[in-house]
Amino acid sequence: MDRKPHWNAAYTAKADDQVSWFQQMPTRSLAMIAKVAPVGSVIDVGGGASRLVDALLDAGRDDVTVLDISQAALDRTKVRLGDRATKVTWICTDITEWRPDRTWDVWHDRAVFHFLTDAASQDTYIKALKAATHPGSAVILSTFALTGPERCSGLPVQRYSPASLAARLGSGFVLEDEALEAHVTPWAAIQDFAYAAFRRR
Ligand SMILES: C[S@@+](CC[C@H](N)C(=O)[O-])C[C@H]1O[C@@H](n2cnc3c(N)ncnc32)[C@H](O)[C@@H]1O
Repeated sequence: MDRKPHWNAAYTAKADDQVSWFQQMPTRSLAMIAKVAPVGSVIDVGGGASRLVDALLDAGRDDVTVLDISQAALDRTKVRLGDRATKVTWICTDITEWRPDRTWDVWHDRAVFHFLTDAASQDTYIKALKAATHPGSAVILSTFALTGPERCSGLPVQRYSPASLAARLGSGFVLEDEALEAHVTPWAAIQDFAYAAFRRR
């Protein structure tokens, strides 16, 4: 399936704060990143138009990468950042087709892995994750929780608990922190998210 047109259309049709996953401030992600990796490089996988990159730059991180399948999303984030966009590395690709050429200290993904509902796509994602991290890297995954919605952006999702995320990643990753969060959409609906932070062995 070519996922790119779906996501470019989603970001072209709606303003940042009109999509269900919008967060004015990604507080939980920032707290988890600060806890498990207070310094070091960060890649936000499927970062889209998230304000995480703004906050990471504000916090003094100087090696931040945003990867997304949608150029429209990345362009929107670049415009918002203005001159600061040049401090960020931008990668436009489908994560399941990506061959990383370096590693990061932190891999962060909020609401991307859950769109991969077949084992083969999940396996290619995990292969990219392993190629883009090293022993000691932190991996933060956030997906719809077991009590969360069955669809996101009109697409089916695979729901997880922190424990089932741990099982899917495998024994090479140690679960260090977890949380459940009731995300409030811009139209005041509740979506339960699971967050899990791992350390790569
Ligand atoms: C639900 S949004 C979450 C965006 C952002 N992480 C946040 O929390 O605001 C999912 C994001 O993943 C991106 N995406 C979806 N499938 C992808 C894939 N296969 N590879 C890379 N990015 C993908 C979309 O373009 C979108 O920006």
